[in-house]
Amino acid sequence: MSQPLKLGVLGSGSGSNMQAILDAIDSGELHAEIVLVLSDNPEGYILERARKAGIVAEVIDCGGYKTKFPEEKQAAVAAQLKEAGVELVCLAGFMRLVKQPMLDVFPERILNIHPSLLPAYPGLMAWKQAVDDGAQESGCTVHYVDAGMDTGPIIKQAKVPVLADDTADSLHQRIQVEEHKLYPEVVAAIGQKLRQ
Ligand code: GAR
Repeated sequence: MSQPLKLGVLGSGSGSNMQAILDAIDSGELHAEIVLVLSDNPEGYILERARKAGIVAEVIDCGGYKTKFPEEKQAAVAAQLKEAGVELVCLAGFMRLVKQPMLDVFPERILNIHPSLLPAYPGLMAWKQAVDDGAQESGCTVHYVDAGMDTGPIIKQAKVPVLADDTADSLHQRIQVEEHKLYPEVVAAIGQKLRQ
């Protein structure tokens, strides 16, 4: 059996997608290991989830900037991920734009999950954008990260109907059910390709 794929996860919030990846690893569906979890939000539950699972979890200090991910900080994060042996970086609810130098250090090795059928509804609260727009259908997308906002090449999507009585929250909950299946599945497929 090959070595498990070493994953680094970046998130800002609850970390349910990171948990789904961990659960898939535990159940044997995903031959991988999360070696480092980083969050720009010290309060993010993702950090606690990771630590409970015995994973090194640290805060990215963005120096008081609310949304900016300073270039020198991206260089430091890229170096930290490399140092930990990370082969594939998974953005899981990470709310800052990843650009160079991280993209240079991990070319085609950074994935993101987004809660819409991209290219529809990029950006913040995509589930609310879908409800406000009267969309009949939404879903989630796993894609490679490029320097744009939710613009990189799409790997796989899962569809979710928007119901007549959906609120932004109820739609997001149903999208998350699909996210938790889609993300581990895509990571497993990429892991197999990288090990060929
Ligand atoms: C997820 O729904 C993810 O798709 C979304 O944030 C949520 C994080 O949940 N990401 C974005 O909107 C990125 N543009 P989680 O912390 O429970 O995984």
